[in-house]
Amino acid sequence: MHQDINFDQISLQLPPPVKEPERQYYFIAKCRQYVKEKSEELGRPLTCLVQTFGCQMNVRDSEKLLGILEQIGYIKTESQDADFVVYNTCTVREHANTKVYGHLGLIKHQKKRNPHMMIALCGCMMQEAHVVETIQKKYGFVDIVFGTHNVFKLAEILCSRIEAGSMIIDIWKDTDMIVEDLPAVREFPFKSGVNIMFGCNNFCSYCIVPYVRGRERSRNPEDILEEIRNLAKDGVVEIMLLGQNVNSYGKNLKQPVTFAQLLKQVVQIPGIERVRFMTSHPKDLSDELIDVIAANEKICRHLHLPVQSGSSRILEKMNRHYTKEGYLELVRKIKTKIPDISITTDIIVGFPGETEEDFADTMDVVEQVQYDAAFTFIYSRRTGTPAAGWETGATPEEIQDRYQRLLKRVQDIGAVNAKKLEGKILPVLVEEISGQDGSLLTGRLSNNLLVHFKGCPELIGQILPVRLNESKGFYYIGEMIEQE
Ligand code: SAH
Ligand code: SF4
Ligand code: F3S
Repeated sequence: MHQDINFDQISLQLPPPVKEPERQYYFIAKCRQYVKEKSEELGRPLTCLVQTFGCQMNVRDSEKLLGILEQIGYIKTESQDADFVVYNTCTVREHANTKVYGHLGLIKHQKKRNPHMMIALCGCMMQEAHVVETIQKKYGFVDIVFGTHNVFKLAEILCSRIEAGSMIIDIWKDTDMIVEDLPAVREFPFKSGVNIMFGCNNFCSYCIVPYVRGRERSRNPEDILEEIRNLAKDGVVEIMLLGQNVNSYGKNLKQPVTFAQLLKQVVQIPGIERVRFMTSHPKDLSDELIDVIAANEKICRHLHLPVQSGSSRILEKMNRHYTKEGYLELVRKIKTKIPDISITTDIIVGFPGETEEDFADTMDVVEQVQYDAAFTFIYSRRTGTPAAGWETGATPEEIQDRYQRLLKRVQDIGAVNAKKLEGKILPVLVEEISGQDGSLLTGRLSNNLLVHFKGCPELIGQILPVRLNESKGFYYIGEMIEQE
């Protein structure tokens, strides 16, 4: 186990081991020497910043990157002035790319003032050849470029950069490798994301993720359970199981396991009070899973079930493998078996060829399902995906208008739903001091909504009963109920 490794005792006279993770332990030890020398030279510790763009997958990868950097000897900071800056990028929509280029433009000046600063780019954007070309041409001051498949290799890549003295690019096209047992830090001591699978095989026609995250690979159930047992021992009470399509977990393992079977084992781990998961693809959501959720109170009453569009015609073009009717039927089944479940979704507006009639179908699904929350996106063309070559159809003004109408309706429905819980006393996991008001704590309900209430910071990490006094649309103001 990496917790038991004394990195200072690894002999650097020997050649690096071939096997993982031992190979990375060796490079962590090697980088430690570099950081030690540099900080002695500067008379202060070296700092690092890992800035994350994108989804929970990237958030978890960043925790792994930070885990490695801390072992190397860097001290975490939130400042862009750090000695080592990593941008863990996302490319799901164009806007995500623009943000990263914006950051690079700004950080260039910092590197001029602080020449030993290291800048690393990783994550989904780096898996696109045209991005890497742009970095080489226009952002020559970047030190390290790596991708989504070799996050575990950060220490080795950093060593190469130090030895070479010039930009290192290390991008893997795909991988079937899953390296276990490397250090990772957690943003919160009491909750943690846990990858159960990597990649995606669904190839929705608009989506870049399968191209930048590779084919679907499930981790062995034993490795997942062992990780969660260790997290629980370390004080973690809430687990979020992560995958692009958790419902197809385990299908390709040597000994196939279903996601529902995995969940049943996770909830039995002592110390784990809450289990969440993301994301569920409607086409693979089984009756077995619905029954397991219904039977286990520890599984949070929240299902993120992206619909993308309400029009069966568009859904077919999106390659989603379900129809409007099929989706609505599934939602009815879920709500019947788990009446207190909160259903949320993702919706894309302005997919190529979307007509006003198609959009009306989306609005109809929103009316029928009555989502508690929905993430709404304007379609963004991604080079290399099938839909990138298709005609848009609607004008940007029409798409903007649809988007606004959808957003309004989604928000109104969410607020009406939230109001229904007013006055109820529900268990809340206390997460942090409220960002808006330092005298309040912020906690999360099983259904994923937030509640702010008075209390002292020592309560952070505990699950407590809170009365939801007032709904503010998508969060509550509440009050803690004294326990006997
Ligand atoms: N695996 C998840 C989604 C991952 S991406 C799933 O299948 O549900 C998160 C969301 O981004 C998607 O659900 C989709 O709504 C949105 N998205 C993906 N590609 C997009 C694109 N090209 N334009 C706009 N939104 C997109
Ligand atoms: Fe993208 Fe579809 Fe895979 Fe989700 S399931 S990541 S939307 S291709
Ligand atoms: Fe973005 Fe990659 Fe996630 S493209 S949404 S960070 S899988």
